[in-house]
Amino acid sequence: MNININKTINELTLDEKVSLLSGGSAWYTQPIERLGIPHVLMTDGPTGLRLSKNQVSVGEETLGNIEKSTSFPCSSAMASTFNQELMEEVGREIALQFQEHGVSLLLAPGINGKRTPLCGRNFEYMSEDPYLSGKMAVAYIKGVQGEGVGTTLKHYVANNQENKRFTVNAVMDERTLREIYLAPFEMAVKEAAPWSVMGAYNRVNGTYCCENNKLMLDILRDEWGFDGMVVSDWTAITDKVGSVKNGCDLEMPGPSMRDQEVLDALETGVLSMADLNDRVRRVLQFVQRALMNKKEVKVDYARAHEVSRRAAEESTVLLKNQDDILPLNSNLKIVVLGEQAADVMQGGGCAKLDPERLSPPLDELRKRNPDLVYAPGYTGDAPDEKLINEAKVAAADADVALVFVGTTYSIESEGFDRAHMRVADSHLALIREVAKVNKNVIVMISSGSAVEVHQFDKDVKAIFQLWYPGQAAGEALVRLLYGEVSPSGKLSETYPVHLENTPVFDNGHVNVEEVEYKEGLFVGYRYYGTKKIPVQYPFGHGLTYTTFEYSGLKLSQRDLKNGDQLEVSLNVTNTGGVKAKETVQIYVHDVRSQYPRPEQELKGFAKVELKPGETKRISATLDERAFAYYVPHLSKFAVETGEFEIRVGADSRDIRLTELVRFESQDGVTIPLTDRDSVLDWLQNPETSDRMKTVMNDKFGGPYRTDSSIFCIMSGLTIRKFFDQSSLLCPGHNVDVKKTEAYLTGNSE
Ligand code: GLC
Repeated sequence: MNININKTINELTLDEKVSLLSGGSAWYTQPIERLGIPHVLMTDGPTGLRLSKNQVSVGEETLGNIEKSTSFPCSSAMASTFNQELMEEVGREIALQFQEHGVSLLLAPGINGKRTPLCGRNFEYMSEDPYLSGKMAVAYIKGVQGEGVGTTLKHYVANNQENKRFTVNAVMDERTLREIYLAPFEMAVKEAAPWSVMGAYNRVNGTYCCENNKLMLDILRDEWGFDGMVVSDWTAITDKVGSVKNGCDLEMPGPSMRDQEVLDALETGVLSMADLNDRVRRVLQFVQRALMNKKEVKVDYARAHEVSRRAAEESTVLLKNQDDILPLNSNLKIVVLGEQAADVMQGGGCAKLDPERLSPPLDELRKRNPDLVYAPGYTGDAPDEKLINEAKVAAADADVALVFVGTTYSIESEGFDRAHMRVADSHLALIREVAKVNKNVIVMISSGSAVEVHQFDKDVKAIFQLWYPGQAAGEALVRLLYGEVSPSGKLSETYPVHLENTPVFDNGHVNVEEVEYKEGLFVGYRYYGTKKIPVQYPFGHGLTYTTFEYSGLKLSQRDLKNGDQLEVSLNVTNTGGVKAKETVQIYVHDVRSQYPRPEQELKGFAKVELKPGETKRISATLDERAFAYYVPHLSKFAVETGEFEIRVGADSRDIRLTELVRFESQDGVTIPLTDRDSVLDWLQNPETSDRMKTVMNDKFGGPYRTDSSIFCIMSGLTIRKFFDQSSLLCPGHNVDVKKTEAYLTGNSE
């Protein structure tokens, strides 16, 4: 069906237009039967189709029982694959299930920055690093939209905590907003063109996102050229007229109770008809896109399950493998402990699905070890002595104890933040007690974000971070445990040692109406690395069953200018005995900048599979943006002239090769000097240094010593004082103030 949008806009009554700016119900757009405009269905992800059975019927929809669908690993897991092709494949499979159920818009991906590991919704977000988040979001969007289903980039922007999420005001400087929280949205909008963007609940610098002119119009539309639809988060609209005026196209859920406010605003001129028609056009264009991309699909759920299994395999991160206890020898007697072994954890809230099949680790381990002993070890969050003792007895009689722990639905979920960074206390108690009777403990952690492990990491031989691994969890884990596939996940977020080490800990993020992002750019490894703070496991960390050697780093050029692309290439060799995949990470270090910058930032990565002894050459391309930062006095991203270190690493702290490049930039990043800046500032500033040296030579009647006491005193003077006081400071050396000023302002003939 093809809607003639201009004709439709002309035929719509005013009431019909206003009604289009909110849903026809909780999950549909508004139909206009009179003109044959149907409604369009949308629902959540991000890890699969979450469709309640009565969503499909019109009328009152509730979040009743959910249709079965394939459950894929959560977003923090998928980001840990560092595998864009696999992300795209998962996106395609999810989209096919949306098509099969007639759903046109997937309310995902979520790419909010992980400012603190405590955010209850971190499992739905990709990474602490904006580049990784952006690249994985691009892959997800391309996969989904390639199958004719729209995506919704969310939550725009700075929805970085669940506590008070409907009202909290995120207060931050422009560089932090641009370089950390907006950056992944900018990348995704520019590189993948999502059909829609979801306005977040919270405020940014005092204004609610859904009515934030700067975010919704100046940046998203005018700067980035976004041409899709802006949809509010559910019930996020506080000022209906303000949201329409400032660029929010569709209020969800619908229908709105405040259409009359819009009509009144049109009457009084607060809202223009042009504004109204623009928002109506966006909604109609979305409906048009949805209708034109619908297709009949018969989903191959077995294939989808296989994709989910590969995703779980590649997202699982091997954090520790002491004494190379892994992979397991299949004749070892194992015991399986922990209730989570019999389940597959998901994140709580609107991302929770009803998996169309389930492979819990316990079931899969039993297939390989029919007589294995299992003990739940805990039930709920409080330690249970009886269950622990039962587990200890079982563990004492086994070669290896597999212990399943993590967060629980009462610890980590949408709607609230974690109160601590530990796994459940009952899980901790189980690990500690079992480690007393078995020296070969292997811990599996199911969580959406980093947890503390210092309470037990010395007592156990190996640790896997499973994240929330999706319905194929068991099949994937068994293949990883027994070495049928080597682990290849790398942490998409830092594992701090203690919550108290995190940059946000003393920033009181948890329960206040206003949160000042005092840590600024320094989140995640940008904080721990720059401040040299020890971490449990660094960003990008992940072990495997072989070893890799990096060599032959080559750069396409050493001297760069604006518009250049730098190709970085190197050899990676599998120097061990089993096939495995390695993710090579490329970080950029700005040797010297006028504004503070993180010590290094991820600007490229490549994943490669290598057989034993095999060498492959991998390459990645760094564009100008890889060197740029947001320069406040230019109000744009720009490169500062200078040297940059290209660092190639296996993780953010395991840098294997480095090379230096020089970037000659025409961006004029030099902070403009004023007469309040010092003589020394003028001497050190590349653009004024020569002129200033001439003036100083004049004053001193020739070359001057920078270690002389008079120089040291004068160099701290503001340049204004320098003019006014110089003859006093330097008797006998009259300084022609006009001439000096002309020199300094570059107006000397
Ligand atoms: C929520 C979430 C959003 C979700 C929407 C619909 O409250 O914040 O991510 O897509 O409602 O369920």
